[in-house]
Amino acid sequence: MNLLVIKANNRPSDQAISSKMYDTFIEEVSKASNLNVKTYDVFAEDTPVLGQELFSGFAKLEAHEVPSETEQRLLDAKQKAMDLFSEADVIAFAFPLWNLTIPAKLQTFIDYIFSAGFTFNYAEDGSLIPLLPEKKIILLNARGGVYSTPETAPMEMAVNYMKTTFAGVFGMEIIEEVIIEGHNAQPDQAEKIISQGLAEVKEAAKRLINS
Ligand SMILES: Cc1cc2nc3c(=O)[nH]c(=O)nc-3n(C[C@H](O)[C@H](O)[C@H](O)COP(=O)(O)O)c2cc1C
Repeated sequence: MNLLVIKANNRPSDQAISSKMYDTFIEEVSKASNLNVKTYDVFAEDTPVLGQELFSGFAKLEAHEVPSETEQRLLDAKQKAMDLFSEADVIAFAFPLWNLTIPAKLQTFIDYIFSAGFTFNYAEDGSLIPLLPEKKIILLNARGGVYSTPETAPMEMAVNYMKTTFAGVFGMEIIEEVIIEGHNAQPDQAEKIISQGLAEVKEAAKRLINS
């Protein structure tokens, strides 16, 4: 099984909980001989923001012209992300909630793969056709506040966005979801919340190995 792990935080693990979740998950899955594990670190990769350079680069390739250096950088970054995504059977994301949403670098990775003909298509009536029902995802998320109450849930645009995109639009199956939440809002409970969450990450990794 090919497992791609997307690391979406460059804060150190002794400070960032989602980085700790990444470390815990990787430590566990690295022990498995039945998994071919690759990491894509959205902060370490060259990930130019998606914009007009992509479309002008495509147009030049189609016209058999040479893309500019900036256009080529973007085309290469997008291709690399799509290739890694294509070869993976399972994709795990370790990501924080920052400013109610996902980090911009993770958004850029998603921009690279959110592509008609690759992850989804349009039917004749205009509806969406998910193209990746055979792929599976794992969501590992940390958020300092509490967003699981009816009042606060609509404010949360990290896990909600990931689910809407990967399950809703691309048709992928969510096989594991671990959310560590509330450790900043309830500091007296933080240690317990975090250690329980990390234990769940470990269990999720073990279930994947044994699946
Ligand atoms: C740049 C930044 C923005 C944040 N924004 C929010 C926020 O909007 N709501 C919230 O509850 N916590 C917020 N937090 C706290 C994080 O959700 C918390 O630290 C959590 O553990 C995930 O981030 P981490 O993996 O970097 O620690 C923010 C933290 C950072 C570093």
